[in-house]
Order: sequence, then C-alpha cells, then structure tokens
Amino acid sequence: MSDTCFIKALDLRRFRSHVAFSRSFDGRPVAIFGPNGAGKTNIIEAISLLSPGRGLRAAKSEDMAGRPDPIGWAIRATADTVDGERELAVSIDLRTGGRRKLTVDEAPVGQAALGEVLRILWLTPAMDRLWIEGASERRRFLDRTTLAFDPKHAERSAAYERAMRERNRLLKEGVFDPSWLDALEAQMAEHGAQIVIARSKTVDRLRDAQEGASSAFPRADIAVVGEDSPAVDDLDATQYRQRLADSRRRDAAAGRTLFGPHRGDLEAIYKEKSMPARECSTGEQKALLISLVLATARGICAEISAPPILLLDEVAAHLDEGRRASLYDEIVDLGVQAWMTGTGPELFTALGSRAEMLELASPDSVAD
Ligand SMILES: Nc1ncnc2c1ncn2[C@@H]1O[C@H](COP(=O)(O)OP(=O)(O)O)[C@@H](O)[C@H]1O
Ligand SMILES: [Mg+2]
Repeated sequence: MSDTCFIKALDLRRFRSHVAFSRSFDGRPVAIFGPNGAGKTNIIEAISLLSPGRGLRAAKSEDMAGRPDPIGWAIRATADTVDGERELAVSIDLRTGGRRKLTVDEAPVGQAALGEVLRILWLTPAMDRLWIEGASERRRFLDRTTLAFDPKHAERSAAYERAMRERNRLLKEGVFDPSWLDALEAQMAEHGAQIVIARSKTVDRLRDAQEGASSAFPRADIAVVGEDSPAVDDLDATQYRQRLADSRRRDAAAGRTLFGPHRGDLEAIYKEKSMPARECSTGEQKALLISLVLATARGICAEISAPPILLLDEVAAHLDEGRRASLYDEIVDLGVQAWMTGTGPELFTALGSRAEMLELASPDSVAD
C-alpha cells in the first residue's frame, strides 16, 4: 500500500447550507448520513473545490454563497500528505468584486497547484446518465481522471482552451493575420498534442489497473474517440500546426475548430458482454463508472505515493448488499479516504469501524 493522503480537518464558512462546519478526520473512509437536504452533498462539493475546476456541481461561486445573505464563502482543509501537512484554502468575497482566492500553505496559487496537493475523483447521481448523454461530460470525466494521474493536465487544458478561443475569435471576426494565427496555432498544437498523449496514457493505465485486479465491478474497455488527431505515435507538432493552418477557412465558416482534443469523447464497452456502455442497463452503467473510479484509484496508488480522495455521492443506495460490501472492501483495501453519502446509517453498517460516521441533522433542526 502507498502512503496516505487524506483530509485531516475541514472547515466551511457560509458555504451553501453550512454556516459554520468544522471537523477533523482520521483518514478512514467517511460515511455521511442524514435526511434529504441535510447538506451531505454540500460537504463533498466543498471538498471537490479543493481540486482544479468548478467542482462536482460545476456551480457558480455566487450560487454557493450561503443564503439568505450571500456575501461569500470559505473552505479550508488540512491535508495529511506525503509531503507532510498542507493547508489548502479556497474562498470568495462577493462584496469586493469576487474572484476566487486559492492558497496552499497560505501562499496564493493558481488552480493547477491544487491538483499537485490532492487528487480528487468523484461520482454523483448526475453522472448516472454519463454514458448516454453528450460527449462533453464524458470528456470532463476523462480529463479529471487524467488530472488525478498527472496534475499538469490542468495547465495544458487551460492553455489549449485559451489559444483555441482566441483563434476562434480571430477567425470569426475575419482577422486572417498569419503571424498572430501562427502563434496561437503553435500553442494549440503543443498543448493539444500533450492532451492527446496524456489521455491515451490514462486509458493504458486504466487497462493495466483493471487487468491484474480482482473486483466485484465489471471491466470496462475504454478508448478515446472523436479527437480526429493523428495517432499518438505520429503526433508531431509541425504536422499538427500545418493542419490547423490549412483548416482556417473551413473553421472560420464553421465558427469553431473542427478537430482536436476539445472534440474528444470517451467510449466504454462492458467487457464480459462486449456491450457498449450506452446500451447497458442503468445499474450496469453505474457499475462501469464505479469500476473505472476504483481502477483509477488503484492505478494512482500503484504509480504515485499519493492516493486519491474519492467523493461518492449516493453510491451506496443504488447497489445491492453484496456489491455494496464489495465496494467497501475494495475501498478499505486501497486505503483511500472515500467520502460517501447516504440517507441512513444502515447503508454503511457493512463498514463497521473501518469508516468514520458523520451524521448531519435535518435542515429544520439546524434552524431551531
Ligand atoms: N447557496 C445556498 N445557501 C444556503 N443553502 C443552500 C444553498 N444552496 C443550497 N442550499 C441548501 O442546501 C440543501 C441541500 O444540501 P445537499 O447537500 O444537497 O443535501 P443532501 O444532504 O440531500 O445531499 C438544501 O436544503 C438547499 O436549500
Ligand atoms: Mg445529496
């Protein structure tokens, strides 16, 4: 087993329904239970904001500010990591014009730096339709998985997006300035190739992590499709740039860039049945997702001495007793801090003392 990496203390201020929440944790999985609306998902959403991006609800900062007086919010966590204790904080003050402030050990940092400290993965009920809806959610899932292995993925994705937006804007405005476009396309080719390569490595890692493991969850054969980029072995930035330059007129007419990693999609097949994920039953689709998250966690534990933190919202409720027990066993074996939510403690009895329990009261009793 690799070294531990977990949230040791969590403090929320004015974050959604949590006016002031403060608690410490010992590294075991955390089972959060309480009635609907008690604030369970809000807690794991707060944790998800300690990683690059907009968190597990992709919500706006304003919407997360505690009502009825939404003036801002603050999330602070002490993490126990291989590099010792680290302090992470994310906050926003809406009264002062409000940009998010991020710090690691009190020093201001950019989004990507968060990914260097904690590797956070999540599954939410909203992802139940991941295999049947549009490509963008699957692409986000793939990129988050990649980011967990490779924190640099956040920076290259942001750089690629920035250059592409700028190029799209120029083309849209009919500004065919060759040196300006060349510069942007050089950026896109450099970062785009890195994104394609990083994603492809993720797919390989997940294949390896599934291969050797015994798991109660079904194996998924996955592949990245839709990028329409050269095969990883032939990815050559010069060729990539040339192709972008050649497609300026076509992209201008389309109003967007017609090939590249921003068009990528994740394809999955339920291996034992050779069945595309989108044609599997709802339960099987969920099982495939859990399987991939567990494989990611296994892969990270094997490769990097910094296990990920898992946020599993309402996962227990949808599994039969046997599968649930297997999920708990796998999580405990991995030694990861998995945060799991459910309405009642009975969902977590199979964990026994292997997890810590966090009971949240009903929203009404909070107001008393
Ligand atoms: N910005 C906000 N300010 C105050 N309360 C909020 C805010 N956003 C959501 N809530 C409240 O948080 C509660 C939902 O919390 P959630 O964590 O989703 O519940 P659950 O325990 O069912 O997962 C709801 O009662 C909702 O009204
Ligand atoms: Mg919830």
